[in-house]
Amino acid sequence: MKQGELVYAGKAKSLYRTDVPGQLYVHFRDDITAFDGGKKDVLSRKGNLNARVSAKIFSLLEEHGIPTHFVRMEGDAAMIVRDLRMIPLEVIVRNIAAGSITRNYPVPEGTAFDPPVIVIDYKDDARHDPMLNDDIIVTALRLLSRDQLAEVKALALRVNAVLQRFLAGVGITLVDFKLEFGWDGDRIVVGDEISMDSMRLWDTATGTSLDKDVYRFGKGDVLAVYREVAARALPGGEQK
Ligand code: ATP
Ligand code: TYD
Repeated sequence: MKQGELVYAGKAKSLYRTDVPGQLYVHFRDDITAFDGGKKDVLSRKGNLNARVSAKIFSLLEEHGIPTHFVRMEGDAAMIVRDLRMIPLEVIVRNIAAGSITRNYPVPEGTAFDPPVIVIDYKDDARHDPMLNDDIIVTALRLLSRDQLAEVKALALRVNAVLQRFLAGVGITLVDFKLEFGWDGDRIVVGDEISMDSMRLWDTATGTSLDKDVYRFGKGDVLAVYREVAARALPGGEQK
């Protein structure tokens, strides 16, 4: 597979064309950022850990019949994916209250949500990703029809069910996570990444963070916790 021209470099990943039309090479860089890019660092091997966990999760979703952009893992820290027309939404599924919902609303951290709470933000860095509602998505921004929005939410809940079960099996509580969706032809599929950067994970036994919160709030050795998630989630996990 030839890594072609750079199409886009975001905060943590770079997308390249490949010699296969319609497929992209996504390089997970070692960059880590938080607070709208206000905090930035480079952590050696972080890209490899997130790429491998993402690849594992996308494979798992596909096995459960959930459509994703994933084609295969490529080399050390990259995935081959189908080139999607991205829908500029951040679809967040919350099983337990933490993070922004506890800052913005009177909901104590740790409150369990059943059914899960779905929050959708508009992916627009310049506007600091404002929260949307159904009417803004459908009527004001015309990003999706009502039915398509319902499909996105249903897919997000299916992803949640698969991920929650998988992670519970390795002693990890899935607190919340963010998905991005895109159009693969006329199908809506899960895109982007599902990794320790985009999920909030707590060790079930101790309640300690196993995700980017360790970086956001300087709670310890970020790479060590990313390695810990990889070790638990991937067979033969940590070594590579
Ligand atoms: P953020 O960190 O807020 O998600 P970013 O653009 O800085 O934004 P990166 O993860 O560095 O994030 O960049 C990856 C980019 O690639 C994102 O804009 C994402 O929407 C886009 N993307 C993810 N999967 C695909 C895909 N299959 N086809 C096309 N674009 C994709
Ligand atoms: P949220 O609590 O809204 O934000 P913060 O982590 O800043 O308090 O985040 C909910 C989940 O979504 C969390 O697992 C991180 C993930 N997420 C992203 O991956 N990217 C984003 O831009 C946002 C807002 C959240």
